[in-house]
Amino acid sequence: MLNEEIIQDLVSRAIAARQRAYVPYSNFAVGAALFTESGQIYTGCNIENASYGMTVCAERVAILKAVSEGETEFALLVVATEIGASPCGACRQVMVEFAPEMPVMIVDLAGNITTRSAAQLLPLAFLPRHLQEAARP
Ligand code: THU
Repeated sequence: MLNEEIIQDLVSRAIAARQRAYVPYSNFAVGAALFTESGQIYTGCNIENASYGMTVCAERVAILKAVSEGETEFALLVVATEIGASPCGACRQVMVEFAPEMPVMIVDLAGNITTRSAAQLLPLAFLPRHLQEAARP
């Protein structure tokens, strides 16, 4: 399903999503593009709030949009910032919930790309199986 053309398209969409970032406080625009196993694309941008803690990151916007549409199997996430910033810990936790093996491509505007799986980004993650194991009699 994933080929070079789709990956390039996702990179473009993640970069384009930055334009929709609502970032009056940090002025730090982040864009994300999520490709599902079913072939759908969900984009996200960071959305800040005057109550700063209510801010939602671009990665989580994309993932939550997908999950709210019934999609929970993810093939690739592209995250775009000007400088190739790495996803925050909260977003990593949300990534591993659904797709620990998913590659996460971290891109900058100069065309540099760093790729790691969600599990690599969050070693020793707290996972759904821990809750299941604890619930056993
Ligand atoms: N941000 C993201 O959108 N994704 C991340 O993984 C890191 C941080 C946003 C949150 C806030 O709007 C701005 O970047 C500065 O922290």
